[in-house]
Amino acid sequence: MVGTAPSGTPKENLGHVVFITAAAAIGGFLFGYDSAVINGAVTGIQKHFQVGPVQIGFVVAIALLGSALGAWIAGRIADSWGRTRTMQVAALLFAVSSIGQALPFAIWDLALWRVLAGVGIGMASVIGPAYIAEVAPPAYRGRLGSFQQLAIVLGIAISQLVNFAIAQLAGGDVNNRLLGLQAWQWMLGACLVPALLYLLFSTIIPESPRFLVAVGKTEMARRVLKEVEGDRADLEDRLKEIQDSLRLERRPRLSDLRGPSLGLLPIVWIGILLSVFQQFVGINVIFYYSASLWQSVGINQSDSLLISFSTSIINIVGTFIAIALVDRIGRRPLLLIGSAGMAVALGVAAWAFSAGVHVGETVRLPSLQGTVALVAAHVFVLFFALSWGVVVWVLLGEMFPNRIRAAALSVAAAAQWVANWLITVSFPSLAAWSLAGAYVGYSFFAVLSFVFVLFKVRETKGRRLEEMG
Ligand code: GLC
Repeated sequence: MVGTAPSGTPKENLGHVVFITAAAAIGGFLFGYDSAVINGAVTGIQKHFQVGPVQIGFVVAIALLGSALGAWIAGRIADSWGRTRTMQVAALLFAVSSIGQALPFAIWDLALWRVLAGVGIGMASVIGPAYIAEVAPPAYRGRLGSFQQLAIVLGIAISQLVNFAIAQLAGGDVNNRLLGLQAWQWMLGACLVPALLYLLFSTIIPESPRFLVAVGKTEMARRVLKEVEGDRADLEDRLKEIQDSLRLERRPRLSDLRGPSLGLLPIVWIGILLSVFQQFVGINVIFYYSASLWQSVGINQSDSLLISFSTSIINIVGTFIAIALVDRIGRRPLLLIGSAGMAVALGVAAWAFSAGVHVGETVRLPSLQGTVALVAAHVFVLFFALSWGVVVWVLLGEMFPNRIRAAALSVAAAAQWVANWLITVSFPSLAAWSLAGAYVGYSFFAVLSFVFVLFKVRETKGRRLEEMG
């Protein structure tokens, strides 16, 4: 049992906290898995329903708008029904939509299920960071908060592996049948397994003590706080501090985010801008389009799939580096290092792409520039992963005052999904216009992100949630 030895240090309960954090992060795994799984299935869907690239692009991108909606409503649900209940709703959405996506009878039917999956993804993107920040002891909050991003990147990588394995079992063609269904249907249906695990674990883990205090269940809150922070001498003070920070006249609403500057509180704007910069550096061009990106500069299909996998591995490595550093050197230095590294790598990639010459539909790069572009893309992913990938989700979970956390995180995450959508839908036409131009743009946003962090983002390392404001 946890919390029995009254040593006062949070350390003794770390195993328990790690367990509940990991359970909550299954939502992040589904976020990564479900958003990336479509890559492997796309060609199969296209062939099966006889649709063109525009329609298929629509099916891919529409899920991102579903995610914006899911993120938007998650805060409200989390504040009314609780954090774990919100996870259960998201898990059900993942489960139902994976069955629907596996058995679509028309392309619009599939698009509807993708939207529903997107809503689940958006909800998971909000509730994971919020819950983890609320249960984590301050000294470990950065590392525990990083579990969300680790789970996302593992989800992305594993979805590719599972897709590859299913395609192999089906004899290499995603339209081949395997036990009655085509391979791409199994790919989309496979999300059911982590969805059911998420459902199971979200019923086992305790509700967030901050939510329990907010709804007046102080005794339960005391129990959970004891479980996660240990039987510490200042437990009653901590509880009082949470109560004060919530100032409980009524439930929080979206209107509580209003402030003097441009209609919203400055801290909410900072959350929104962190989200937008995280997307505007073009990270998901790599994760959603890398196969076609590399093919467009003359790399063959199987090599380009291999490159996609190697960028996923670099993404995981970078995430581990961030986990090791986030509570030591802090959030701000990591963001600054990341922005600088990304700006240089993106600039170098733009230079390499600018050497391309059009050969029919594709652009050919001279071999030196081809190699430089590949290395630059990997360096970019590494710098993203060890900084903005992890730190933005950690900050969004912890930077807002208790009272507005779920609502503010919802707004910032919804902005992130809209920004993701903008980059995703604009990339194909931008690339057709000028790949180098697109990368100059992403590099410009990396430079801006540096300036933004330098002047606007405050360090949160080691501070208690009750001190945020
Ligand atoms: C972050 C971003 C997400 C991206 C991922 C890549 O989680 O929010 O959009 O796909 O990093 O690792």
